[in-house]
Amino acid sequence: MAQKFTGKITPSKPADMFAGFSKLSREERFDRLREMGALSKDDISFLRAGSPLSVELAEKFIENVIGYFQLPLGVVTNFIIDGQSYVIPMAVEETSIIAAASKTAKWVREHGRITTEVVGREIIGQIQIAKVKDFSKLQTKVREQASAWVELSNRDVAHGLVKRGGGVKSIRLRSVERGDGGLMAVIHVQADACDAMGANIINQVCEYLKPLVEEVSGEKVTMCILSNLVDTKVTRARVEMSGLDPELMEKIEEASLFALQDPYRAATNNKGVLNGIDPILIATGNDWRAVEAGIHAYAARDGQYRSITRWKRDGEKLVGTFEAPIILGIVGGVTTLHPTAKMSLKMMNIQSADELSRICASVGLVQNLGALRALTTVGIIEGHMKLHIKNLTLGAGAQEKEIPYVQKRLEEILTLHKRISLSHAVEVLRELRANQTRPPQESQT
Ligand code: MEV
Repeated sequence: MAQKFTGKITPSKPADMFAGFSKLSREERFDRLREMGALSKDDISFLRAGSPLSVELAEKFIENVIGYFQLPLGVVTNFIIDGQSYVIPMAVEETSIIAAASKTAKWVREHGRITTEVVGREIIGQIQIAKVKDFSKLQTKVREQASAWVELSNRDVAHGLVKRGGGVKSIRLRSVERGDGGLMAVIHVQADACDAMGANIINQVCEYLKPLVEEVSGEKVTMCILSNLVDTKVTRARVEMSGLDPELMEKIEEASLFALQDPYRAATNNKGVLNGIDPILIATGNDWRAVEAGIHAYAARDGQYRSITRWKRDGEKLVGTFEAPIILGIVGGVTTLHPTAKMSLKMMNIQSADELSRICASVGLVQNLGALRALTTVGIIEGHMKLHIKNLTLGAGAQEKEIPYVQKRLEEILTLHKRISLSHAVEVLRELRANQTRPPQESQT
């Protein structure tokens, strides 16, 4: 019997809700998600029909439309974040991301917990004056006018945000070296965008302020745009686990140190973290390029590109942390117009953009833990490529009845040679077909 929609799961034993989920058929998964209250009857009909979308809708988003590009949509299981169990949708094409995150979340759940917080509220807009004539005069003017400009922006542009408890909060001036011995002036406008991502509103505020700045200062504004490096609003996630093998903890700590100190490794580490974040952003219609840019810039904030996650032993415990801006929205734009994004948001029953960013940070951190655990034990091939075998089998063109044999042979090759590729799959399939078409041998006896 389907419950009334509740989205978030608060059963006495949350583990049970996802027990055996990956082994279920798609119809059984629908039933389970309906029982959890994550999907309605209409959602299921929409998904069963292949999530059909009208081309007219696409015309609302972009220009020169010719159709849609679809990604698989799945749910990552076993996440309990701040004591709350979630059904988390992911739109992603890479094999093993959902499986690895779900498996690692189960491990975390069995050995510890995930806690999160968002620190700061304000996003940033920038107004550049490339060739400032008199920096100290500009400084005085900005200081004098800042609160009036905040008030005017809130009255004329950001009144919607003010109504929702946000709005423009502060304005300050920075100097940035030009690289030719001179300075440029950059005005930072900070605003609380509440549950919106805030890009449009902060850009509008900056452009609204441009003539006011020019008039009082006599300077010429070069450009206005938001910044994706939002160090004024960062999301933190923390995983604490106990009862783990000390040797494994040490290996994970060493792998973390590698990613902290070596930018070549940091890039791959952070790609793995984003494996957990981007698919949620895509499923919910959020701007993943903006989040990627913000996370990478934050990862390089001390001048060297570093891992965005840290893993350390703390006594008997393994502690992992993630800290970076994850600026997203749950209202406006694609999040409200795209039926699949709307359904994905409803599935999680989240109450705020901050809650979604805390979920993203948690999945990113746990995805990272899964990767480090695999890399420091069985290696990437077994953990990652094994699941890829099915894709290789299909990629080689195996028919339904040929799949089990090809997969089995590829697993054997993988165990033997520690590597596997499409050419192995093609060769196995060629051999299989050759054996099947060879005329029966005459008996030797
Ligand atoms: C592959 O998509 C992601 C990993 O390379 C991440 C990592 O190396 O930490 C496995």
